[in-house]
Amino acid sequence: MAEKKKDYSKYFDFSDAKVISEDETGKKIRIRGREIHIMSEPNHRQEKQRGKEDVKVLYENTVPESLKDLGRGKRYIVYTYGCQMNEHDTETIKGLLEQMGYQSTEDRKEADLILLNTCAIRENAEDKVFGELGHLKTLKLERPGLLLGVCGCMSQEENVVNRIMQKHSFVDMIFGTHNIHRLPHLIQEAIFSKEMVVEVWSKEGDIIENLPKKREGMRAWVNIMYGCDKFCTYCIVPFTRGKERSRRPEDVIAEVRELARQGFKEITLLGQNVNAYGKDFTDIEYSFANLMDDLRQIDIPRVRFMTSHPRDFDDDLIAVLAKGGNLVEHIHLPVQSGSTEILKRMSRKYSREHYLDLARKIKSAIPDVVLTTDIIVGFPGETDEQFEDTLSLVKEVGYDSAYTFIYSPREGTPAAVMEDNVPLGVKKARLQRLNDAINENSRLSNDKVVGSVVEVLVEGESKNNEKVLAGRTRSNKLVHFEGSPDLIGTFVHVEITDPMTWYIKGNIVPEPVTTV
Ligand code: 5AD
Ligand code: SF4
Repeated sequence: MAEKKKDYSKYFDFSDAKVISEDETGKKIRIRGREIHIMSEPNHRQEKQRGKEDVKVLYENTVPESLKDLGRGKRYIVYTYGCQMNEHDTETIKGLLEQMGYQSTEDRKEADLILLNTCAIRENAEDKVFGELGHLKTLKLERPGLLLGVCGCMSQEENVVNRIMQKHSFVDMIFGTHNIHRLPHLIQEAIFSKEMVVEVWSKEGDIIENLPKKREGMRAWVNIMYGCDKFCTYCIVPFTRGKERSRRPEDVIAEVRELARQGFKEITLLGQNVNAYGKDFTDIEYSFANLMDDLRQIDIPRVRFMTSHPRDFDDDLIAVLAKGGNLVEHIHLPVQSGSTEILKRMSRKYSREHYLDLARKIKSAIPDVVLTTDIIVGFPGETDEQFEDTLSLVKEVGYDSAYTFIYSPREGTPAAVMEDNVPLGVKKARLQRLNDAINENSRLSNDKVVGSVVEVLVEGESKNNEKVLAGRTRSNKLVHFEGSPDLIGTFVHVEITDPMTWYIKGNIVPEPVTTV
């Protein structure tokens, strides 16, 4: 039995919506007694268009004086769903809110503003947000002055925005991934007009520098590029995040230098496809390998990156990563499937053999490297044999861990209209077998480090036992050991005694013998 497709047509019934006025600031409509100011709305057709126009880099981005007091004495909460890119956007949102005078709270009963920074990658991510909106409706009825906003990837989808306008009209603001910097103005508009405010830009090629960021802890995310032009057939990201555009190297380098000066111990460079970094520059030749080589010279102990695409992972980059230093021995290299036929239908633009060759090259250049990956099972039409190809690839590469998913159709993507004849039960059984194989790999890899001494950046107390500290090795393995909370934020050396499936246990020792 094929999986049932969702019928979105019921969300497009705008027959009871009335246009009240229309001018250069957008249009005002009324649906079920609520007025909505649509300043701009998402449009999938426009999102698909990739213009050749130059990327504009905008540097002046302080919150206007007139809006700096709008949040004085008020409290906010931001709930974040999805990937690190969203987590990092939330840091910008918090930075802007605090410049407006808002203070954070964890108690939703005392919040004056609640934002949901959403994820659209799979249907269950969206279901969680709609579930949360149901809870927030009760809160809003108790406290009508509470301002509710939806932002992030779901806001870039036409069907989602229509559904919110129709069925969740108590929401006050909807804004997209390209106009986060407009947040202070949108809050002002929502407070003073009392209408729902919708502002989502579909086609955007700009880079906004100098936005404030509220970072916590000793690890920091740094965007190096935005958007994605790969258009893998299952993926919504090229629509929700816009076209591929790289930040200027001097801006990235200056940000990393500043983070080093502030004492951060680790940075993770973020991009949907970091290997495409610099390909959009028209005035300079500067690649991801060049950037990594430059960041190697900066005095910050660890530099990571997420996510790479196997197609653009070139020999220059491998050579730079092999120099080590602050460039750690962990590469997240999403494979998605081990079958060349499925990869072709996913439009991944590499074959199983290409991927295996790349993994071999990386391992021989960086002997201690740990590889992790993303895998989708149950892509439309995936046969048992094609799934077996994925299992055999997993065993051959020997990933330490992996994010594994059942394929989820995304409206507007090419795969959503491919015939899907794989029953859900079969997809679930494949996921289980895949996870078992990965757990076995993980356990084998953890067994290998018993007796060695690893360098650990101490992140905090373990979730279940406050006497136990948790941290990560350069290769991103999770380590538990006993120690004083004073050590949080520092590097220690730990001798590994017990390998578990998800983490390794050990004891602090004074001097390293070997490192992993
Ligand atoms: N269904 C299931 N998984 C998906 N991913 C992206 N789109 C989908 C989808 N439609 C997975 C991919 C990607 C990761 C971030 O999410 O594995 O690498
Ligand atoms: Fe999605 Fe493919 Fe782009 Fe990754 S590379 S964000 S999977 S389209």
